[in-house]
Amino acid sequence: MSLLVARGLRKKYPTGVVAVENVDLEMDRGIYALMGPNGSGKTTTLSMITGSLKPDSGEVLVKGYSMWGGGWVEARKLIGFAPQDMPFYKHLTAMNNLVYYGLLHSLSIFESKRRGRELLEAVGLWEARNRQVSKLSGGMRRRLAIAAALIHDPEILVLDEPASGLDPKAREELWSLLITQWGDRLIVFSSHDGEEVERFATQVYIMHRGRVIEKGEPEELKKRYMPHPKAAVLIPEGEAPTIDGVEPERVGMMYRYPLEKLTVEDIVHALREGGVKFTRIEVVEPSLSEVFISLTGERLS
Ligand SMILES: Nc1ncnc2c1ncn2[C@@H]1O[C@H](COP(=O)(O)OP(=O)(O)OP(=O)(O)O)[C@@H](O)[C@H]1O
Ligand SMILES: [Mg+2]
Repeated sequence: MSLLVARGLRKKYPTGVVAVENVDLEMDRGIYALMGPNGSGKTTTLSMITGSLKPDSGEVLVKGYSMWGGGWVEARKLIGFAPQDMPFYKHLTAMNNLVYYGLLHSLSIFESKRRGRELLEAVGLWEARNRQVSKLSGGMRRRLAIAAALIHDPEILVLDEPASGLDPKAREELWSLLITQWGDRLIVFSSHDGEEVERFATQVYIMHRGRVIEKGEPEELKKRYMPHPKAAVLIPEGEAPTIDGVEPERVGMMYRYPLEKLTVEDIVHALREGGVKFTRIEVVEPSLSEVFISLTGERLS
């Protein structure tokens, strides 16, 4: 039995938007990403698997406990969730916010303080323990959110866009912390940054318009959907031609030719011969963002 299983998740908001449709997930130890553009259903999915939002249909099993079928209390104990904007009492100190989360999870005050101290050390906030949350930087607040999500020592850590808004250095520090401290558990995170997912996730679910459209190891997906670099040509007016039997894929005003049978020189030559005006040509290397474009014809962010 996998640690976390979701089957047939669906959620329609009262506004009529179907945010998530028929989502299946199966996760064990490792770092799993839900990757998709704005509005693709990542937050809605994470909220349903963490027990914060009831699905219209489908089920979530956490170590066999059915989140929405009577096992909410047991399932919730196994999960720590840091939403995109973790609710903190901003006038209380970092330490007292952790104690508060401990009490919410039914830990004793003694145990809450002990865990609070342990986690503040682990996330590098010990020096800031007595500082009000309102006086912490964005990166420090993110780390405090992770500590709060881990207060009850869950086996699964779920993070909604953990690195968004952080500068590259703070993002690196956050991931290095997550991997060294909790990389042996199950981490589930959402992101619309293909590079972040490629670097840190061992498995990725690609989401588009509320559905999972592909899943697998990042490297394997790149090999499958983008085995070769591509030449991207900007053609403001007119159409890009088929060159030596190779048809380009279109993304906005850009046309992409795989550099398998063709070289960049072949493409430039053929466009000039055909009188097609182009204003830019560049080589794009395989990446998860490019895989997303190949699958959907749309950009990830
Ligand atoms: N509370 C809500 N009420 C109505 N519609 C909602 C609500 N929350 C989300 N939606 C809609 O559901 C869809 C999925 O939203 P969701 O927040 O799950 O996407 P997301 O992938 O997390 O996006 P983002 O990258 O912007 O965080 C969107 O069309 C969104 O507008
Ligand atoms: Mg979201």
